[in-house]
Amino acid sequence: MKLYRAKDYYDMSRKAANIISAQVIMKPNCVLGLATGSTPVGIYKQLIEWYNKGVLDFSRVKTANLDEYKGLTKDNDQSYYYFMRENLFRHVNINEANTNIPDGTETDAIKEAARYEEAIKELGGIDLQLLGLGHNGHIGFNEPSDIFPKETHIVDLQESTIEANKRFFASIDQVPRQAYTMGIGTIMSAKKILLVVSGEDKAQILHDVIKGPVSPSVPASILQLHPDVIIVADEEALSEF
Ligand code: GLP
Repeated sequence: MKLYRAKDYYDMSRKAANIISAQVIMKPNCVLGLATGSTPVGIYKQLIEWYNKGVLDFSRVKTANLDEYKGLTKDNDQSYYYFMRENLFRHVNINEANTNIPDGTETDAIKEAARYEEAIKELGGIDLQLLGLGHNGHIGFNEPSDIFPKETHIVDLQESTIEANKRFFASIDQVPRQAYTMGIGTIMSAKKILLVVSGEDKAQILHDVIKGPVSPSVPASILQLHPDVIIVADEEALSEF
């Protein structure tokens, strides 16, 4: 694992955006694995700025998002589809046909999980997977468990995740209880992984992820076993080191 120290959220976003830009420049038809949550928003802003300056071209880039809430339609402003459109896709020249997100409206969970896993295989795998970190160590929506789930699947969200994500909804009752997520195996198959972490509230879990035992009780700890992981974290997130 390579660890890059950033001064603050802005610096973290810029450093991570640089790594994604390098990927797009080196391989214009690359497959980017993308993430939602508040942490990547600054990265997407920076990528849009560089796109507007003519530095970046997304016309041949393909994307696959980590996860999606089950039951939310694309036009629901809390769906990850909506998030990606508003925070990145509609601002750059990406071809919508080249973007992939699990379909939250598909009620047959086994069918949707298999379809999504297959879609990623058809893309030829992910070149660079961006990840945020949940407070309980989750990546995508792979919650702490006694196993590392291999492939895309449906999950029951933990109370702590529902609690953390309620800030985006009008009330906690509106937070979906289930989501589709890439599995740990899907994520670990990415050629390169970029984990971004910001804020003091993530300091303890980031420490556990990097220094603790590899255990499905801290899903992101599996990243210790991946051959090419870059972590960009700000000073606050690194305050336990
Ligand atoms: C959600 C997403 C994760 C994300 C996490 C942390 O649960 N499914 O992919 O990493 O939130 O979000 P934030 O960056 O807002 O702390």
